[in-house]
Amino acid sequence: MATSPPLSTFGAGKVILLGEHSVVYGHPALAGPLSQGVKARGVPARKCQLTLPATMSRAQRAQLTGAFLRAAKLVGEPPVKVSLDPELPLSAGLGSSAAVSVACARMLLCAAGREPTPKEAARLAWEMEQEFHGTPSGVDHTTSAEERLLLYRRAPGSSDTGRGKVVDSPRPLRVVVALAGERSPTKKTVGALRERQARWPERYQRLFAQMGKLASEGARAVEAGDLEGLGDAMNVNQGLLAALGLSSPVLEEMVYRLRGLGALGAKLTGAGGDGGAVVGLFLEPEPAVDQLTRLGVRCFSSQLAGPRAT
Ligand code: PMV
Repeated sequence: MATSPPLSTFGAGKVILLGEHSVVYGHPALAGPLSQGVKARGVPARKCQLTLPATMSRAQRAQLTGAFLRAAKLVGEPPVKVSLDPELPLSAGLGSSAAVSVACARMLLCAAGREPTPKEAARLAWEMEQEFHGTPSGVDHTTSAEERLLLYRRAPGSSDTGRGKVVDSPRPLRVVVALAGERSPTKKTVGALRERQARWPERYQRLFAQMGKLASEGARAVEAGDLEGLGDAMNVNQGLLAALGLSSPVLEEMVYRLRGLGALGAKLTGAGGDGGAVVGLFLEPEPAVDQLTRLGVRCFSSQLAGPRAT
């Protein structure tokens, strides 16, 4: 082994504030890192390997192991035994697979004696993400590796990952993330939308273009400190996601709950579908988290950007 692997590395989860799905078709999306994510722990070993909990299904284990070995090969399979410690709800729309990919990429790079810069970590995590998603836009792992609020864009059909422009916020950007029901894997929801848009391309492309415009407008609102403007863009984006067939009664109910609790804007985040995560933009998230928790809703708050209280 080139160097001793670190005891632990981290990959952040993400929330997409504006532009999920349309980002797959080349339009920009606004996404930020969560403080919650996935930790990878590493110990020196004879060969490069990933150990997974027995509670995972055979299919999940095969997919994770395949993705890990694909990335490991690219850095010479350093002899490290890696285990995962997720502190993020899995398959909910919060970029858990990207967080796993970034945590593993950082661990593999360190174990191979290489600097785990955001760019290097993103490049290696991209290899894993392709195993998980097939045709990911790359917004999840780029946001996770950069750990900054990004306006992200990737040319459709490009074999490479896209680019994220850092969006600075003069005000704290605080969100509540709440979970509503179960959902299908991202790959399935993205695939079903792809079939609908192939059938009625003009109708769907129109909506994708509108969503891309909202993401750019939202980024400008963030830079201007106009959180009300950002919140309004999120509400409009939710309407477009519903028009694309990506929302559901449980998601809508949670969106309206968060708005009722004072969210400046609320929408589903990630792939959506039957259920999953809903994000609300709040000036003061804690009272909403307390109230939702009392009602038995799984939720948490996070700051995505802007000055932090000392
Ligand atoms: O639900 P998640 O966390 O896998 O996010 C998916 C985001 C999409 O825009 C729907 C797909 C993508 O590759 O960007």
